[in-house]
Amino acid sequence: MAQKIYGLDIGSGNYKMCFGDKILNEKNVIATTKKEVCAIGDQAYEMFEKAPAGIEVSFPVSSGVIADIENMQSLFYGFFKKINGGKKPAGACDFYIAVPTDVTEVEKRAFYELVVRAKIKMRNVLVVDKPVADAVGAGLDVTQNKGIMVVNIGADTCEISVLSAGGIVISRSVKTGGSKMDDNIIQAVRKEYNLLIGKKTAEKLKIELGSAVPKVEEKFPAFGRNVLSGLPVSCNISSRVICSAIADPLFTIMDKMRTILEQTPPELSEDIIGNGIFLTGGCAGIKGLKDAFKSETELNVNVVDNPQESIVRGLNHITRVPQLERLAYVPEDRVLD
Ligand SMILES: Nc1ncnc2c1ncn2[C@@H]1O[C@H](COP(=O)(O)OP(=O)(O)OP(=O)(O)O)[C@@H](O)[C@H]1O
Ligand SMILES: [Mg+2]
Repeated sequence: MAQKIYGLDIGSGNYKMCFGDKILNEKNVIATTKKEVCAIGDQAYEMFEKAPAGIEVSFPVSSGVIADIENMQSLFYGFFKKINGGKKPAGACDFYIAVPTDVTEVEKRAFYELVVRAKIKMRNVLVVDKPVADAVGAGLDVTQNKGIMVVNIGADTCEISVLSAGGIVISRSVKTGGSKMDDNIIQAVRKEYNLLIGKKTAEKLKIELGSAVPKVEEKFPAFGRNVLSGLPVSCNISSRVICSAIADPLFTIMDKMRTILEQTPPELSEDIIGNGIFLTGGCAGIKGLKDAFKSETELNVNVVDNPQESIVRGLNHITRVPQLERLAYVPEDRVLD
């Protein structure tokens, strides 16, 4: 029987899962009433900031760790069913789970326990450190004794890591990312235009108008409520306002990158100078990021193709290449029951 192997990258903003060549990438969101689950994923996100009283729309992962285990379990079952076309797969399954590194052992183990405690017939459940999976997904050979620097900018966290010989030399997480940028955009638009917008609109403005380097001014329409008149209005938002709103989180990330580079052993720095830094995570899609980071660090910067799915792609690759098997492990103190 063909092996059933699944890879999971459970993010604060998006749930990424692979099964063979299939990749599921949906918002990590659940909509519930007191009695039942109404919707999951992208469908639940559609209800975000629009749901009537009685329906709660929530994100069970916050700052990169599981904050609401019950809803996370419902999402895990829901997405598992979805990737299998609504059917229960025959035979036992293997799971490879990407776990953050700069968190407590308990927080890390929560991802493992989420899967291992699920009522699914399973064989092996293994974890892979996120930066390692990320580098593999970026197409890099992580097994060599060479320094690799990966910067993953997600929704709530930015993980900056230096790897060598398949392991982590340094990895630090900064609690900032796309979601903080969206919050800053909401505040800036309110201040500049007296316009109250929702988080989804802020995210759209960030993707359409955001840039990490100065650019020719552009405008994009946004709908919201005028805070003075209280009436719904549409307003053309300038890229100038959006770029200045996202500048602060980007500056925090660049500052941390500089600190990590200063702490990197010199022999590894040489490799990083040679190969450059690899940018992944959804926010790697921000325009001009490559140039901004390049001028800040004076290093080459590579933006990985389809950066949001780099980790899950890496997990998929690890499950297929026997030489990479050692990158996956069972976390210590696992719960045996
Ligand atoms: N093209 C784009 N330009 C700018 N930002 C983008 C783009 N595409 C996605 N994003 C942003 O990327 C973020 C999501 O990225 P990602 O899926 O890597 O995060 P996550 O893994 O869910 O979060 P975390 O790693 O912090 O737990 C969101 O804030 C989203 O708005
Ligand atoms: Mg992530």
